[in-house]
Amino acid sequence: MPFHQEVFTWKKIKYVDLEAKIIESELTYLIRKNVLWPHIKDNNYALPIDKNPETFHLGTFYKQQIISIGTFIKEKHPNFDCEKQYRLRAMATDKKYQIKGAGKCLFLKSIELLKNKEIELLWCDARIKAVPFYESLNMNSLDKVYNIVNIGLHKTMYLYIT
Ligand SMILES: CC(C)(COP(=O)(O)OP(=O)(O)OC[C@H]1O[C@@H](n2cnc3c(N)ncnc32)[C@H](O)[C@@H]1OP(=O)(O)O)[C@@H](O)C(=O)NCCC(=O)NCCS
Repeated sequence: MPFHQEVFTWKKIKYVDLEAKIIESELTYLIRKNVLWPHIKDNNYALPIDKNPETFHLGTFYKQQIISIGTFIKEKHPNFDCEKQYRLRAMATDKKYQIKGAGKCLFLKSIELLKNKEIELLWCDARIKAVPFYESLNMNSLDKVYNIVNIGLHKTMYLYIT
């Protein structure tokens, strides 16, 4: 049974009320602005790869509102040998709805879609604060910690999905 169809209540949102779907990139801008990149001053929340044909964007819907977002890009990380890799970027949940299962719902949907594309590895540059979230989804991390300007410390996290 797909994750979002499990019928039980957890932290005030029923999983049955959460659904992750492919969305247009523009629908990610509000959460990108509010949660991820409040330092941006020019109102440009687009990423250069948003419209690449291989890129897809997911949104978790709750009562017809998008409460969590993530962007999936075909991109190889130099530390991993396998050919078929995707990178997760700009993953965030609306502050009001964090720790209620919306990010997990989105992540599990992405794994379903990436498996269909026969992708072998998903990786991301994870903010240190978000590492426990990715660990809860079975991602591993490389040891190195690095700084990204305006955002802070990060680790590379990855999951083999085949
Ligand atoms: C990190 C983030 C995307 C997680 O999304 P979310 O919708 O809040 O996460 P979920 O509710 O689906 O959590 C799934 C699991 O991760 C755990 N988790 C999520 N965030 C966590 C945190 N900061 N610390 C510890 N555990 C966390 C949850 O407790 C849950 O665990 P469980 O399944 O064992 O109960 C969200 O908190 C967020 O937007 N943070 C700010 C922006 C950010 O850091 N984005 C990541 C950029 S790399």
